[in-house]
Amino acid sequence: MPWKNTRATRLFNVDLPIVLGPFGGLSSIELTATVSNAGGLGSYGLYGYEPARISETARELREATGKPFGLNIWLPIEGEVPPAVDAAAFAAYVDVLRPYFELVGVEPPTQPATYLPDPAEQIQAAIDAEPAVLSFVFGVPTSSVIEEARRNGIVVVGTATTVEEAVALDAGGVDAIVATGLEAGGHRVSFLRAPEDSLVGTMALVPQVVDAVSVPVIAAGGISDGRGVAAALTLGADAIQIGSAFLATRQSAASPVHREALRGPDAGHTVLTRAFSGRLARGVPNRVTSELTDPRAHAPFPVQNWLTGKFRAAATAAGVPELMSLWAGQSSPLIREDDARGLMDTLVTSVDEVFARLGS
Ligand SMILES: Cc1cc2nc3c(=O)[nH]c(=O)nc-3n(C[C@H](O)[C@H](O)[C@H](O)COP(=O)(O)O)c2cc1C
Repeated sequence: MPWKNTRATRLFNVDLPIVLGPFGGLSSIELTATVSNAGGLGSYGLYGYEPARISETARELREATGKPFGLNIWLPIEGEVPPAVDAAAFAAYVDVLRPYFELVGVEPPTQPATYLPDPAEQIQAAIDAEPAVLSFVFGVPTSSVIEEARRNGIVVVGTATTVEEAVALDAGGVDAIVATGLEAGGHRVSFLRAPEDSLVGTMALVPQVVDAVSVPVIAAGGISDGRGVAAALTLGADAIQIGSAFLATRQSAASPVHREALRGPDAGHTVLTRAFSGRLARGVPNRVTSELTDPRAHAPFPVQNWLTGKFRAAATAAGVPELMSLWAGQSSPLIREDDARGLMDTLVTSVDEVFARLGS
């Protein structure tokens, strides 16, 4: 079928225009390799990974698949002033979260020296690991990063939530652009305006980005079955990035409780919240998203992410959904498949059927 041969499949050197979305903190070697081995582009999120772990992850991925895969990095948002959270402010933020620490029996943490690995060191380690694709969120990679990646044979991908971000990425020299609509699960990766002012749906965003940029466009957000894939291709996308539907498969690193939530009754009314990380992200509503709504109670990113991470880890281990970040996109109620290979096969069959039906 001709839909399988696009500018993106040629750029990534893969058989199918289907990309597994990276999951910062929740990617798994098995899921990434399964998607790559099935002919798509498996991606792996490196959020929070130290350089040594990045090298080790790339090595494990290479052991699990001989096919191309992508690595993903969060850039610091340009112009965003690093949060000044002194000891008193830190203690106040901990106080807000104290009931959650108590509920899961975790001692509230003391202030760390750093919250995240150095982004420049992460990028260097990712380039040295020589993945087929290196994708970025929250900004435009510098020209020196893009040039060095290219010298290592790496395709560079940026991520846009608005047309103006896509234009900035195109001007910055990336090789392809993920256009991610407001339906997507996880963080809104806006970098030119506040994410609250960058909420464009996939159906509106994709064709506008296709018209505005010269490089291949990868549609993301709210696509969980073959109808969505066919629709995005029809809008002019060169590939489709799927997150939530893969997160729900048994190969994913999501906990059983998270996977259950993706299929549960509340998956149909996901919310955008800053409660967990200090940045806006979409997930299934629960006690934390409904209680922590006052922005003054949220520490700035990455402090809030680090702080809540301590009780979220314990809640995940104990299976307490009310205190977990249950990231999920708006099309989660369409999720049927429990196996990532099965999902890839079903997507292909179903896109073939859609185009055959439309062509007849
Ligand atoms: C749990 C979770 C974590 C995510 N982490 C990242 C990330 O670190 N980097 C990134 O580029 N996208 C991230 N995303 C977005 C996905 O890669 C993908 O673009 C998105 O899920 C697509 O929308 P969908 O969920 O409607 O399929 C994440 C999504 C989820 C659900």
